[in-house]
Amino acid sequence: MATENTADRSAKAQESATAALPPATGEAFRDAIARLPSGVNIVATAGPAGKAGFTATAVASVSDDPPTVLVCLNSKSPQNRLMQENAQFSISLLPKDAVTLANIFAGRTGLHLEDRFRHGEWTALSTGSPVLADAIMALDCRLHSFQDVGSHVVYFGTVVATLTKPRDPEGAKEVLIYHDRHYGEA
Ligand SMILES: Cc1cc2nc3c(=O)[nH]c(=O)nc-3n(C[C@H](O)[C@H](O)[C@H](O)COP(=O)(O)O)c2cc1C
Repeated sequence: MATENTADRSAKAQESATAALPPATGEAFRDAIARLPSGVNIVATAGPAGKAGFTATAVASVSDDPPTVLVCLNSKSPQNRLMQENAQFSISLLPKDAVTLANIFAGRTGLHLEDRFRHGEWTALSTGSPVLADAIMALDCRLHSFQDVGSHVVYFGTVVATLTKPRDPEGAKEVLIYHDRHYGEA
């Protein structure tokens, strides 16, 4: 008589566990990824194509030699043309008191392109892309490459200059974060 061995049993257990999982729809993905706390940044570009910026949590370190980062921008945004033609951009990590600025650069107040920079104090590092003067840290990048991935365009940037604010000596929370679809502090 054939008996079920351990491998058969574990394959069956895996099959039924998979069947019970919800499908990875866009909505399920967005609900899952909302639980990931992220720093809130403004990604900005300036150059021959003009000046623009957007609020972004989709920012990540890629390589430290050469220093390389990535940012993801919805492919429907008119800012894609500026990112590609200017071929440079900056990333400013926002301080905890910059919620209004985050909302302005998220398009929640109806301001677009250059008009968003009427708010906040802006400086520049090496490329001329706008950097928030009181950013917790900022990375100034030359565009390395970009790639369409689903709904977004992924921009890879080679970091050519940095700005780093010293830590609060008492360890106070300083950084604006986004978690569970709400702003917070870290
Ligand atoms: C907290 C937060 C994080 C965001 N992160 C991103 C992001 O990483 N990538 C993106 O394309 N849009 C992101 N958005 C939405 C853009 O900021 C928003 O669509 C913006 O208006 C894009 O600029 P545009 O109107 O010039 O296209 C985020 C919005 C918020 C409030």
